[in-house]
Amino acid sequence: MEVQHLLSGFCSTPLIRNPKTQFFARLPNPCASFAQSQKWVSFKACPCNSQRALSRKVVECRSNTERSGAIASDDLRNGIRRKKLAVFVSGGGSNFRSIHEACVRGLIHGDIVVLVTNKQGCGGADYARDKGLPVVLFPKTKKEPDGISPIDLVAVLRKLEVDFVLLAGYLQLIPVELIQAYPRSIVNIHPSLLPAFGGKGNYGMRVHKAVIASGARYTGPTIHFVDEHYDTGRILAQRVVPVLANDTAEELAARVLREEHRLYVEVITALCEERVVWREDGVPIIRSKENPNEYS
Ligand code: GRF
Repeated sequence: MEVQHLLSGFCSTPLIRNPKTQFFARLPNPCASFAQSQKWVSFKACPCNSQRALSRKVVECRSNTERSGAIASDDLRNGIRRKKLAVFVSGGGSNFRSIHEACVRGLIHGDIVVLVTNKQGCGGADYARDKGLPVVLFPKTKKEPDGISPIDLVAVLRKLEVDFVLLAGYLQLIPVELIQAYPRSIVNIHPSLLPAFGGKGNYGMRVHKAVIASGARYTGPTIHFVDEHYDTGRILAQRVVPVLANDTAEELAARVLREEHRLYVEVITALCEERVVWREDGVPIIRSKENPNEYS
């Protein structure tokens, strides 16, 4: 079927073909209906769709035979609705992949419904397109002039009924509009034991080099809720990883990353099962699945 037929309501909007033969289309306004066939996702304009094209680009994709995809059903597990997840990625996306696999395997009671990236050519975006997931480019920059604005991003996430935003190697500050729209619902993973080795400029291999140079004997991933600053939101979970005497930054990064994949899936599982509770002093803690009286 021609993709143009499925993008009804946006005929005036030119489609752009990227080198990987995926399709971009303008997003609808917030009251437009979101429809998905088995092969394509389409955005249909509602009658009050104005001339104003709300935003720029969503990548559209090919058939998706897996469960996760962009459709999330309302199916209940112990009375809890299956959650809808947005993942933000700037790089290779190995955390994104492991989260996606856990959704597909049914470990996580949720589905990834959109991938947001500031680099449309990154590995994470390629993987999303390959799996038939919509890809949104954010923010709009000189390098990526087709990115969307913060207000439009919030509109898209609302339209897709996103419950949680998961940052997985997304190297941009999250705009205040998104933080206000999703209170206590945005988490990030950082590759050190925060508050050590965090903050602006502390990302990627720089973190692991700094850990080794400091002489610290332990490091490991931290998952925290996101506020307006880099790496300062409330800590939700951590995992300790030893720093070995002869470690290179690359070896240490690989050891931490393996733990990141496990920890992020565990934490998202808890989020989606509504096992994250907030202590009176504002610290989030996780209720154990096996023993509801136990928290970590
Ligand atoms: C991870 O180390 C994560 O802690 C940090 O960025 C990296 C992303 O790696 N925020 P990947 O793209 O998931 O492989």
